[in-house]
Amino acid sequence: MKNIRNFAILLFITLTFSLLAGCQSSAEGEASAEENEQQPILIQGPMPIEAENFAAKLEDVEEETSGNFVFYKGKVDDYPVIVMKTGKGMENTAAATAIAIEKFEPAAIINQGTSGGHDPDLHVFDIVLGERTVNIGSMKTGHLEDGEGIAPKEWIPMDLMASEGSAGEDPDAENIRYFEGDKDLLKAAKAVKDTHEEGKVVEGTIGSADVWNNEVDRIQWFHENFGTSVEEMEGAAGAQIAKAYDVPYLGIRTLSNNKTNGGEYNPDTAEANQEYVYEVVKEYISK
Ligand code: 5AD
Repeated sequence: MKNIRNFAILLFITLTFSLLAGCQSSAEGEASAEENEQQPILIQGPMPIEAENFAAKLEDVEEETSGNFVFYKGKVDDYPVIVMKTGKGMENTAAATAIAIEKFEPAAIINQGTSGGHDPDLHVFDIVLGERTVNIGSMKTGHLEDGEGIAPKEWIPMDLMASEGSAGEDPDAENIRYFEGDKDLLKAAKAVKDTHEEGKVVEGTIGSADVWNNEVDRIQWFHENFGTSVEEMEGAAGAQIAKAYDVPYLGIRTLSNNKTNGGEYNPDTAEANQEYVYEVVKEYISK
């Protein structure tokens, strides 16, 4: 009899606690839903000259670092915006993008900075909106034997996302993988084209690899075969990771140089690009 009474008391206590715990966790759920209501917009810049101008425009900035990456967390027009200094290149950008997505759950990502022209109609200070981004370092060479030399013009594009099988053997992998720029980010960017007075703003294809091409014939080869407007070293890496997490993404690149028409390198383009991207962010937030 005593045992049954003890058991009943124990059951009562257990049920009461689990009920209370349930109430608490649903209250926590509501709070985090509210906090998440305003997911930040991430602005990526590889080099200090490509990130710090924008960071200086943020209100209420707090700095956070993770590895080599610096996050400037602040606000634009009362909306959370995080500027990230990613460092140069594909690896830095991929890692920084994954970390930022896991840490901050962004609503959208803009990858921006300088680039080199592949299109002779584009000039230093012009800006390309990445309707498409493509990895121009992801390629498969032809089969040549010992002593037969190298033939870069015969290399074919390789799509690392085509399948889980060997990219070397899978014929489906012999394709160009384009990452599409997000439609709403593109719309916001097009709406404020006129704010950029130092050059024109066009839609195009951004090519990325850990390579700086100075051979004009090679640049032309990419322009003809991949449709590239410009090249840089980050955009496609960020785009690939953003796609993996389904986060809206857009590359916005100014030309700091263009070998195809004698456009000399000008680092001031980095600041002008950030001024334009700031207008894009304000437009995107307002909608
Ligand atoms: N080729 C490759 N990267 C370029 N960049 C600017 N111009 C070029 C170019 N012609 C950018 C890259 C990288 C840094 C070296 O400058 O994105 O961050």
